[in-house]
Amino acid sequence: MGLSQSERVSPVKNHAVRCILCGADEGKLAVDFRCTKCGELLEVDFPGWSAGMAPDPAALKATWRERRASNQPLDASGVWRFREVLPELDNRSDAITLREGNTPLYELPQCAGAAHVQHLKAKHQGMNPTGSFKDTGMTVAISFARQNNYQWVACASTGNTSASMAAYAARGGMRSLVIIPDGKIAWGKLSQSLDYGALTCQLRTDFDGCVRVLNDLIRRYPIYLLNSVNPYRLEGQKTAAIELLEQLDWQVPDHVIVPGGNLGNNSALGKAFLEMRRLGVVGTVPKISVIQAEGANPLYRTIHEKAGKELVAVEAETLATAIRIGNPASWRKSLRVLEATGGCVEQVSEAEIAVAKAEIGADGVGCEPASAVTLAGLKKLVRSGFVRPDESVVLILTGHLLKDPEYTIQFHRGDLSVPRMEDSEFRALTERQRKAPIVLEANADAVLQALEAEDKRNG
Ligand code: F0G
Repeated sequence: MGLSQSERVSPVKNHAVRCILCGADEGKLAVDFRCTKCGELLEVDFPGWSAGMAPDPAALKATWRERRASNQPLDASGVWRFREVLPELDNRSDAITLREGNTPLYELPQCAGAAHVQHLKAKHQGMNPTGSFKDTGMTVAISFARQNNYQWVACASTGNTSASMAAYAARGGMRSLVIIPDGKIAWGKLSQSLDYGALTCQLRTDFDGCVRVLNDLIRRYPIYLLNSVNPYRLEGQKTAAIELLEQLDWQVPDHVIVPGGNLGNNSALGKAFLEMRRLGVVGTVPKISVIQAEGANPLYRTIHEKAGKELVAVEAETLATAIRIGNPASWRKSLRVLEATGGCVEQVSEAEIAVAKAEIGADGVGCEPASAVTLAGLKKLVRSGFVRPDESVVLILTGHLLKDPEYTIQFHRGDLSVPRMEDSEFRALTERQRKAPIVLEANADAVLQALEAEDKRNG
């Protein structure tokens, strides 16, 4: 695949995998990717960086920029382009890539007005090949699955991980098993895993129940687990933060705001920002804040009720099905990132999520409900004074608008019922935002009338 001579030389393994709690160095990883000593999660570490072999920051920036002009598959991937700070495959040509990453950074002028901030941008991770940020992590983790000679890969999912996994497994000639909660994932996501050929099992439980079943299964069958407890997933997801910094010409924003579900993504982004500071690529880190839906708020409650000491698991309920998670695996990693960057956690109501989603749409960007928690949360953080109006803010939009068209259509038709608010009150609140389709007779007069009425409404 046109690798340079130096890249063809058999690489020395460039990383270690360690427990985040007891620090144990795990050689051969357990099938559930947990520490064999204490059961906590693992993370990838680069021991060479402390042993005087840290890459030079100026050289990194130059190499990464240079690769943007290359058509080699690994360079064209917005993940593998950053391979100096990723775990190394024994054979780089084994990487399974769909040219993930390279996602746009958009200005959000109308949303900035709604949130009362001056500098607001969105990094749209929904512009990845399967429509969510999961692709950036999937390309790395599934490549390691192939390196380890697995035929089967599997995940429990609220829909996006499964769509991504199914696509990458298909590309890599591997078989994939999708475990999802019956009736609780958006149609766009379910249809993807079917088309990509996954064995798709809809279990009569919620996401947390699906995780339990899969954990049992991986002990009974040779299946490689691709949930975000897999530390290689987070390594790939890290690259969105590096790409963001590059898009900002290495000017660090004051705040980055991320939706929180299983809490892998904010942990991955935080790891990247901290690593970039450690390597001297940047001098500071943004405050990373996590936003949860009120009905799926275990991290919020963990901090407010237990001061972060133990997880408060909840029975999750939210229309933002991607983050309908009550027992998040990566809560400790997430807390570490909040502490290390000075970020906070906020919760938002279903009505706030719906309004924010339509506002992001009105900027011509759009996203799925789980991503819109970021704007809804930002508004609260500005009101509380945590974010100052003159500070720069980047929202991480995690999923594409078309993942969940049913939610959007119900919203605009005025058919969306949100928990804890009367339908009439919600319809009144969103009246100006809603754009229901109009059914008319097939003649120009009828359409003209609709046009004129619209002009009149807009003054
Ligand atoms: N946004 C979207 C669109 C997601 O799909 C997810 C998670 C999140 C945010 C939350 O990210 O879990 O890293 O905190 N979706 C997973 C899935 C759980 O199965 O697709 P997180």
